[in-house]
Parts: sequence; C-alpha cells; structure tokens
Amino acid sequence: MSVEVVVVGIGSGLAAHLTGEAVAALNRVDVFLVADKGSAAADLRTLRTELCVAVITHPGYRVVEVADPERGPDAERDRAAYEAGVRDWHHARAERYADVIRRELPEGGTVGFLVWGDPAFYDSTLRIVESVAEQGVELTTTVVPGISSVQLLAARHRLVLNGVGGSIHVTTGRRLVADYHPGLGDVVVMLDGALTCARLLEAHPDLHIFWGAQLGLPDEALVAGPLAEVLDEIRATRLRLRAHRGWVMDTYLLRGPSLSLPLP
Ligand SMILES: C[S@@+](CC[C@H](N)C(=O)[O-])C[C@H]1O[C@@H](n2cnc3c(N)ncnc32)[C@H](O)[C@@H]1O
Repeated sequence: MSVEVVVVGIGSGLAAHLTGEAVAALNRVDVFLVADKGSAAADLRTLRTELCVAVITHPGYRVVEVADPERGPDAERDRAAYEAGVRDWHHARAERYADVIRRELPEGGTVGFLVWGDPAFYDSTLRIVESVAEQGVELTTTVVPGISSVQLLAARHRLVLNGVGGSIHVTTGRRLVADYHPGLGDVVVMLDGALTCARLLEAHPDLHIFWGAQLGLPDEALVAGPLAEVLDEIRATRLRLRAHRGWVMDTYLLRGPSLSLPLP
C-alpha cells in the first residue's frame, strides 16, 4: 500500500482564499482526516464542509473524523514539560491516523489534511504526518501553501511587516514577555488569547499594535494605534466577537516607535 498525503493550507476557510494549486490538490483526495476540537470546532467544521462542497467537483471523497487524544493543561507547565507533553500528544494522534489510513485505504490512495492558514505557521500537521510514516505507513507528502493569518493581517493593515532591511520575529503569547526587546524589530504574535502584550506596556509604553481577529471571515475586525490607547478597544472587540460567534482568533503585530507607520 502506498499513500500520498497532501497537506493543504486553506487560508481563512473561504473558497476565495484558496490557491489554484490547493483546489487541484483537494480534488485529488480520497479521504480527508480531520480532528477538530474546542469551542470553535462546530463552526470550523461547517466552514470546512462548505469549502469542500464549493471547490471539489466529484462526489467520491470521504471525510473521516478522528477523535483527538487528551492533552494536558499547557499553561501550567514549564517549557520542558510542555514540549514533552506536545510530543506525546503528536505521537498519540499519529497512531490514530495510522490506524485510520490502514483501515480506510488498504489499497493506497490520497489522504488530505486541511490546515487553517498555512501549514508552516504554528501547525503540527507536518510533524504528525512524519510520525505516521515512522509507524510504518508508506507515504509521500505534498505540502500546498495557504494564506496565513500573518499575511492577512499585513494585507488588511496595508503593512510591510519589516522595517527597511530589518527582521521580523514571529512568536506566541506564551513566549512574548520573556522574549520581547525592541531589537527584535517587528514582532508578530499568534496564539495569544490573553493579550499578553498588555504586560509589555510598563517597560515599552511607545509600542504600536496592528491587531486583527477572524481575519478573512465575515466578522473580521481590525484595530490599530498606540497600544496604550487602543488596548481597551481591542479587549471590548474580542468580547463582542466571542459573544457573537462563540470563539475568537486573533493575530497582531507589535512595532516600536522608530519604524514608520503604514500607508494612510
Ligand atoms: C494554531 S495557530 C494556526 C496558524 C495558521 N496555520 C496560520 O497560518 O494562520 C492558531 C493561531 O493563528 C492565528 N489565526 C488563525 N486564524 C486566524 C484568523 N482567521 N484571524 C486571526 N488570527 C488567526 C491566531 O493567532 C490563532 O491563535
């Protein structure tokens, strides 16, 4: 049995954000494996189903939901325990995927994973696929890039993410306070449900923020300005979005005072 695994970046989930290469890849898939969880799951499942219906031109594909293994409480762990926990969780997930692939495609075929945004940004799918191969499933992997929330954030705010010749640092809310210093240049923050940037204000009162939530979706929201002045507006917007949709996903850029502001 030989399996092709296609890992497809689907941007925000709207068909308009798919590349032509992604549409062609989706049309090759026999079985999609999905493992959504958390409060956003049902909503995201609907978006994904609508996407498949909109762009796949044959009826022959199947969608198989794979129950996610339990994962421990990230916030309470130190870095080593966190990384070990994530590795164990990837392994457990990979075992389940390997079983499902053997069961669903005994003669081989094409397995698809739909990844929000782009598979290169804070997504574990490629690591898990590698682990599936380590468990003896003979497979080749094709990755199709998608539009990341990082790119959408920059486009919506009409930003070049770096200063001229400068660096861009991409990190998570979990690491922001420990890592931040102005020498990093522009800092893009993902996975930060707690708006950790508020904790930088005392030491860095001049920071600007360019914030975006539900990017690419109909309830997309944007706020930009001096962090100290717009923080309350961002907090209020997050609450409104969560009340409306049941979940909120946001990404933001922090910029020090020396860099130029975006186009008007
Ligand atoms: C697990 S990471 C996945 C990132 C994804 N692979 C990408 O390329 O955007 C989830 C984080 O991505 C960001 N994100 C994903 N979708 C978003 C959206 N529609 N609007 C704003 N941020 C989003 C948020 O920071 C969220 O916490």
